[in-house]
Amino acid sequence: MRFDIPAMKPADRYKILASAITPRPIAWVTSQSAAGGRNAAPYSFFNFFGPDPATIVLGLMARPDGTLKDSDANILETGEFVVNLVCEADAQAMNLTCIDAPPDVDEITLAKLEVVASDRVAPPRIVTAPASFECRLLHRLTLSAAQTLMVAEVVMAHVADAYVLDEQRCHIDTGAMHLIARVHGAGVYLRSGDTFQMDRPVWKDVAGNPGK
Ligand SMILES: Cc1cc2nc3c(=O)[nH]c(=O)nc-3n(C[C@H](O)[C@H](O)[C@H](O)COP(=O)(O)O)c2cc1C
Repeated sequence: MRFDIPAMKPADRYKILASAITPRPIAWVTSQSAAGGRNAAPYSFFNFFGPDPATIVLGLMARPDGTLKDSDANILETGEFVVNLVCEADAQAMNLTCIDAPPDVDEITLAKLEVVASDRVAPPRIVTAPASFECRLLHRLTLSAAQTLMVAEVVMAHVADAYVLDEQRCHIDTGAMHLIARVHGAGVYLRSGDTFQMDRPVWKDVAGNPGK
């Protein structure tokens, strides 16, 4: 079946794309207004886009009434935020922070999150997150009245000691972090426990062994 995406309503485009492009990692974003009001919210239009500069991107949709979400407004004001990754143990707390609370509500307090000061940006990071990335905004792209993209540089990474296998070689025990990911529908998530390994092909091996 074909779906003529540009001809469809945005809500239907969302259903097709967000249900197919899965699993998506979740950025649990902590941010702060210029006046210091704290905020936490999950964003699964999120990924890592390359190491030089260390780039992450977030996709933020406006609220149904057209106003900016608090994370968007805070990042626009300050240019800073922290991406905290979400482990299974934090799933309920993460879910609570997606609540459609008014801007003056601090979801960090609401969800009883333990936070500590970041090193290079003003918003705090979440202590229970297996990894947190302090970010500075590089570009904010307004794609429409309904959608913005934040392109940001990671200026400091924190990985909980328990998951650092070899500090010198920068090896991390990804499986042990038990990260969750967003799948389809309103509330379906994936656990990250089922992996398999495949080595990358190397041309000289393949070319030297035609037919294999
Ligand atoms: C797992 C999860 C992922 C989400 N991903 C996004 C997203 O990528 N973009 C977005 O605009 N909203 C996303 N949301 C909805 C926001 O978290 C929600 O609108 C929240 O209230 C925004 O909070 P804020 O106004 O404090 O930033 C997601 C919600 C959940 C539970």
